Amino acid sequence: MIIKTDTEREGIRQAGKLLGEVLRDVAAHATVGTSTLELNDRAETLIRAGGAEPVFLNYVADGARTPYPATLCTSVNDEVVHGIPLSRTILKDGDLVSLDCGLSLDGFIADSAVSVIVGKRGDEADAVLLEGTKKALAAGIAAARAGNTTGDIGHAIEEVAKRYELTVVRDLGGHGTGKLLHEAPYIANFGAKGSGERLVDGMVLALEPIFTHGSGAIKLSGDGWTYLMRDHARAAHFEHTIIIGAHGAEIVTK
Ligand code: MF3
Ligand code: CO
Repeated sequence: MIIKTDTEREGIRQAGKLLGEVLRDVAAHATVGTSTLELNDRAETLIRAGGAEPVFLNYVADGARTPYPATLCTSVNDEVVHGIPLSRTILKDGDLVSLDCGLSLDGFIADSAVSVIVGKRGDEADAVLLEGTKKALAAGIAAARAGNTTGDIGHAIEEVAKRYELTVVRDLGGHGTGKLLHEAPYIANFGAKGSGERLVDGMVLALEPIFTHGSGAIKLSGDGWTYLMRDHARAAHFEHTIIIGAHGAEIVTK
């Protein structure tokens, strides 16, 4: 299950390619005056046009009271992850929005997220937050090679947070993926070098650093899905699905 065959890797590559295209399109449409529900509908149309199916829609998570009701997670400003797209959530100049999506193509799954600043009036501190979180994902991917461990990935991610003076949201992390949305192993966005589980050729992982300017503590909102920063600081989130190979990781959701 954890080690994917060549056929499975190829299926996951195809799923990732389509998801990369979907997210690029949706991110380009995250403009002032657009509702998060419009972005969701756009993602769903593109996924189905590509012969795939959304995997977040109706997803039943451990402990959640209700299935997730949408194709895309849209988390605006102090919403961290799993924000639910709504017609009344209209994007404004300077909003920071995370767009997270997963799809299944011929039974193979990819999961990816990007964060963007809407419009032109971006705050300088938010630009740093985006850059640091994105660099942390790249550092995590660089550490994701056979022989290293999940702790090496977490350590590499945490080092970038420190360098940018940002806070890791420690209650959320990455995971195995490919056949199910969430598979083992869990990958914390912090940790000690050499700790955790050993990475092997053929593992498929979704790495997803989530950073903030504030304390890092989160709470679940009344909708049962959206995680909010307790201190209402903004949060950023980037995620790629990768395949661990003998000579490093391959990003499938570019
Ligand atoms: N990338 C997110 C995660 O791995 C997406 C899950 S949304 C859900 O947790 F609705 F499917 F749960
Ligand atoms: Co994920």
